[in-house]
Amino acid sequence: MDEYEKVYKESIENPRSFWADAAKDIEWYEKWDQVLDESNKPFYRWFTGGKLNTCYNAIDHHIENGRGDQDAIIYDSPVTDTIEKYSFEELKERVSKIAGFLRELGVEKGDTVVIYMPMIPESLMAMLACARIGAVHSVVFGGFASNELAIRVDDAEPDVILSASCGIERDKVIEYKPLLDEAIELAENKPTKCVIKQRPECEGKLIEGRDYDWDELEEEADPADCVSVDANDPLYVLYTSGTTGKPKGVVRDNGGHAVALKWSMRYVYGVEPGDVYWAASDVGWVVGHSYIVYAPLLIGATTVMYEGKPVGTPDPGAFWRVISQHDVDVLFTAPTAIRAIKREDPEAEYFEDYDISGLDSLFLAGERTDPDTYHWASDLLQVPVIDHWWQTETGWPIVGNFRGLKQFPIKPGSATKPMPGYDLQILDPQTGEELPPGETGVIAIKLPLPPGTFITLWNNKEKFKQEYMDPFPGYYFTGDAGFVDEDGYVSIMGRVDNVINVAGHRLSTGSMEEAVAKYPAVAECAVVGINDELKGEVPLGFLVLKSGVDQDHEEIKSEVIQMVRDEVGPIASFKKALIVDKLPKTRSGKTLRGTMKKIADGEEYSVPSTIADEEALDTIEGAIEEEGLGK
Ligand code: COA
Ligand code: AMP
Repeated sequence: MDEYEKVYKESIENPRSFWADAAKDIEWYEKWDQVLDESNKPFYRWFTGGKLNTCYNAIDHHIENGRGDQDAIIYDSPVTDTIEKYSFEELKERVSKIAGFLRELGVEKGDTVVIYMPMIPESLMAMLACARIGAVHSVVFGGFASNELAIRVDDAEPDVILSASCGIERDKVIEYKPLLDEAIELAENKPTKCVIKQRPECEGKLIEGRDYDWDELEEEADPADCVSVDANDPLYVLYTSGTTGKPKGVVRDNGGHAVALKWSMRYVYGVEPGDVYWAASDVGWVVGHSYIVYAPLLIGATTVMYEGKPVGTPDPGAFWRVISQHDVDVLFTAPTAIRAIKREDPEAEYFEDYDISGLDSLFLAGERTDPDTYHWASDLLQVPVIDHWWQTETGWPIVGNFRGLKQFPIKPGSATKPMPGYDLQILDPQTGEELPPGETGVIAIKLPLPPGTFITLWNNKEKFKQEYMDPFPGYYFTGDAGFVDEDGYVSIMGRVDNVINVAGHRLSTGSMEEAVAKYPAVAECAVVGINDELKGEVPLGFLVLKSGVDQDHEEIKSEVIQMVRDEVGPIASFKKALIVDKLPKTRSGKTLRGTMKKIADGEEYSVPSTIADEEALDTIEGAIEEEGLGK
């Protein structure tokens, strides 16, 4: 048996001793009573009775171990022409003061705090400040519109929101303050206090009695120390897209999360204390939570916070510049970022200007790494390019390769092998039976899930069971399809629900449909994700108009597009809508989105036997042809 096989086998056969061993890498105030508590299935709990503080483990612990002067964060912002570095000591000072002002605003252990901020160091500090005092943060990605923010505020019910006056997207200044004000206007559970980090590019107007200036509060605050929390206490809630318009609040605990993330840094990413780790994502996504903020700091590495894009800030050499300037050891990004660079600089001319010999590996996730992207990056960088698969729900990878354990030969198109702790099975979607190698089915994980994965959905235990645990009893249903080959390599084939992946961002077609349906002339609609060379997928809307509507079709389409932008946010990239006479449906009334997607992608499809009205497919085909799609 090789090292991987030994470790994997141990993690599945003896999960308690395996994870208890991993947990020794974390500082606990009190040791757990039980490694794994199975008394309330499927709500498994890890390290029950244990007490710790995640912020202590991410900052203070390193200072006590002589790393106080080491850079904890490198903030690199080409859009503001800024590079700032914060040592662990400086990070502690700022985080303690932010935690102090949160406490002075009345935030207590267990309270929620919503963070709606761009990629500036204060976002990361805010998350750690919450962790320091046992508050539960809920970060909302800046590219979401007010309505989406309001939905999350209503569910998380924070009394305090932390925000900034603006974000910067390439050369555009995005004013956050009006978006925040509108969200609070829309929300039913209105927070009473907002703290605004004013940025010089655009200052926000503070509302008296509700809004506070971040810098003033921070300057005057008394620093707050770490509090002890239960291993099972929530660290954060992160909303993710489901099949409906209502996002799901994934809840992460403190104990299992710290243990699993630190383990993953060593064994998956091959990162040790003092290394420089760069996840080029955003703190608003799970990648940002796990691999910009928590995991690199837990291991004592330096994390790079990059406020920029792979291209256009200022050019497609931006990633290579950051790697060489900051001696990055490991880069983590989405395949779409590599495709964007390749599109603008196919011959990699910008690459010549930089020395990236310090780079050890490139990790990709968020969507499948297509073989073209793999080969381009691998030939260029001459380091392992590792596709790894995971989800907001799991918080860390499910399938990948192991820089700190065993580097398997890469098969382009496959995400390689299951992570220790994940008993991955391919199930027949109808019968739920485990399928043999080579057969495609839904991907499920035999329970219990390992530490670090979600423990429930915020305010919605029922949905946690219904959506994830009930479809195949005894397993966690991932929502993805795939297969395992004869060598045990796992390939991910895509979602089996209405979740789409746009530029590595997970979005719900349901939320876009809800926005479209509000347009007065629209009788019904469907949104599907269609293939896109750069973004992997982009949404395409099909609109059926109310009878008698004689409004100009182009006007309807452009107003509907604007409506989705305003309601869901620019990140939806909803830029195309078609007007059709009817939608194809099954006899039971289910819209045949999968078939519509195949037509739009120009793929072969068979007419489902359950179709109610075959003519509807002709309508779809006609509209797609007219638009020049489907080739
Ligand atoms: N705040 C406000 N608006 C935002 C935003 C934010 N934080 N992030 C993105 N947007 C806006 C963009 O400005 C763009 O607006 P536009 O329609 O006016 O141009 C829109 O949302 C779509 O953004 P995006 O999908 O990022 O498209 P893009 O064309 O600006 O960039 C890529 C394309 C591929 C370069 C970019 O998506 C990228 O870098 N992707 C990396 C993926 C990633 O980080 N994934 C996270 C998981 S690892
Ligand atoms: P998110 O919860 O935003 O991280 O999105 C998770 C979803 O993105 C998964 O369920 C997959 O559909 C998709 N995904 C993420 N990483 C990969 C990958 N490496 N290969 C294929 N699909 C991926």
